[in-house]
Amino acid sequence: MKRIGILLSGRGSNFLAIARAIAEQSLCGAEIAVVISNHANAPGLAAAKELGLPAVAIEANGRKRAEHDVEIIQVLRKHRVELVCLAGYMRLVSAEFVQAFPNRILNIHPSLLPSFPGLHGQRDALEGGVKVSGCTVHFVDEQLDHGVIILQRAVSVLDSDDEATLAARILEQEHIAYPEAIARVLSGEYEVQGRRYVLQ
Ligand code: GRF
Repeated sequence: MKRIGILLSGRGSNFLAIARAIAEQSLCGAEIAVVISNHANAPGLAAAKELGLPAVAIEANGRKRAEHDVEIIQVLRKHRVELVCLAGYMRLVSAEFVQAFPNRILNIHPSLLPSFPGLHGQRDALEGGVKVSGCTVHFVDEQLDHGVIILQRAVSVLDSDDEATLAARILEQEHIAYPEAIARVLSGEYEVQGRRYVLQ
């Protein structure tokens, strides 16, 4: 069983989609070892407790990013985590963190990267006038929303869309994309070739 560590800051619907995929065995060979949040009151952390999963709050408390990340790395190691999934984790991770889990940290972003990185992927897509947007699961490197892309799912942008309706349609695709991306990584059948993640 590959042990997954989840980092989240809020609602946790992507975490729950991963947990559901494991429970329904559409994502096999994986288990959630621990859920960590930088906010003690994150709804996603409460949901983890309800599922009986180890749930740990590690607040930043004004500490430097690297110090905060060291504590997170310690908790991940204590729970023998092999793959880290950022699921609405609204904090940049330090270079130390990335180096502690090389090609072993995933993130999901609500746009088709490399378009519209940053905090407002859906709003920026609308303002950019694109007709297609979606979500991207990618490896985390030392730049924001930049690492090698594992998979993407697209949605049409409708004339009637506002930020909320577009975000909701993208979120449905996120919940499919994240477990699929994890399965792809755990399969061992893909490899990074330059900027591409391809079948060996
Ligand atoms: C998602 O839109 C994700 O792409 C972004 O933050 C949101 C988190 O939602 N990084 P949830 O907490 O998983 O419901």
